[in-house]
Amino acid sequence: MKTGIIGLGKMGGALLRGMLKSGAVAPQDVWVYDHHKENMAALQAEHPGVHEAESEEAAADAVEALVLAVKPHAVLPLISALSEGDRELPLLISIAAAVTLDEMEERACDGTRIVRAMPNTPCMVLSGVIAYSPGTAVTDEDEEAARRLLSGCGSVFKVEESRMNAVSAISGCGPAYMFTALDALSDAGVAMGLPRKTALELAAGTMLGSALMLEQTGEHPMALRDAVTSPGGTTIAALNALDECGFRNAWIQAVKSAVRRAEEMEGN
Ligand SMILES: NC(=O)c1ccc[n+]([C@@H]2O[C@H](COP(=O)([O-])OP(=O)(O)OC[C@H]3O[C@@H](n4cnc5c(N)ncnc54)[C@H](OP(=O)(O)O)[C@@H]3O)[C@@H](O)[C@H]2O)c1
Repeated sequence: MKTGIIGLGKMGGALLRGMLKSGAVAPQDVWVYDHHKENMAALQAEHPGVHEAESEEAAADAVEALVLAVKPHAVLPLISALSEGDRELPLLISIAAAVTLDEMEERACDGTRIVRAMPNTPCMVLSGVIAYSPGTAVTDEDEEAARRLLSGCGSVFKVEESRMNAVSAISGCGPAYMFTALDALSDAGVAMGLPRKTALELAAGTMLGSALMLEQTGEHPMALRDAVTSPGGTTIAALNALDECGFRNAWIQAVKSAVRRAEEMEGN
């Protein structure tokens, strides 16, 4: 499927690289537009054959599906500009946080097919999590096409749009929480005398293995936790210390803050 992307920044770059790496799209079927030539040059060095579109409009005209990966404040002006002259647009996939389907559909010509998606940066290594909600004009075929493209980069979930800010606060922002946790855990290892590299490898391997264990066993996290928590042992001592420091509450407050911020951004 001929696929375009406008905005090749952190998230757009991760998503497109995932789609290319997984083979969900072939380089010769990709059109990209970004203000920054260096982003394009880096992509073309990795994936020769990708086309550079001359403008946002040229990208829209060349493809069947167009990913909008610009900052949230730039999405609505971009859709307005693309829709000038009643241009019939390809299937649009917006990944912007806090920009609703209603707002996007209002800016586009009647019948424009828009999918709102929320990916995360692990899409770059094909282990992303991507939630999406289809707009009013999206057909089953469009939805299937969007799912096919996105699933090259990871697991795809359909969600009600009203849940999108919560999704964004968990999986969209989530890699930042995980990296912070990994840094804190490796810092603790360094404080206890481990070399930094070893501490970080131990922490990252443990996070990866634990997530895989949860996924593959289908067990509740507390059951898996119990299995490694001997009475009177070291793990329960550590878990008690985490509780004393408000560990669980810190995560809950982080997610609530991200949702509140998304709601404020929606109001702007
Ligand atoms: N980062 C994440 O983890 C994440 C996760 C989920 C969703 N998202 C969503 O992904 C979107 C992109 O975020 P990001 O972090 O990738 O931002 P970013 O790194 O700033 O990338 C956006 C890129 O698009 C370019 N751009 C802006 N307007 C353009 C236009 N009209 N035509 C062509 N290029 C244009 C920007 O150039 P200029 O800098 O010159 O404007 C920049 O290179 C946002 O809407 C965000 O909500 C991000």
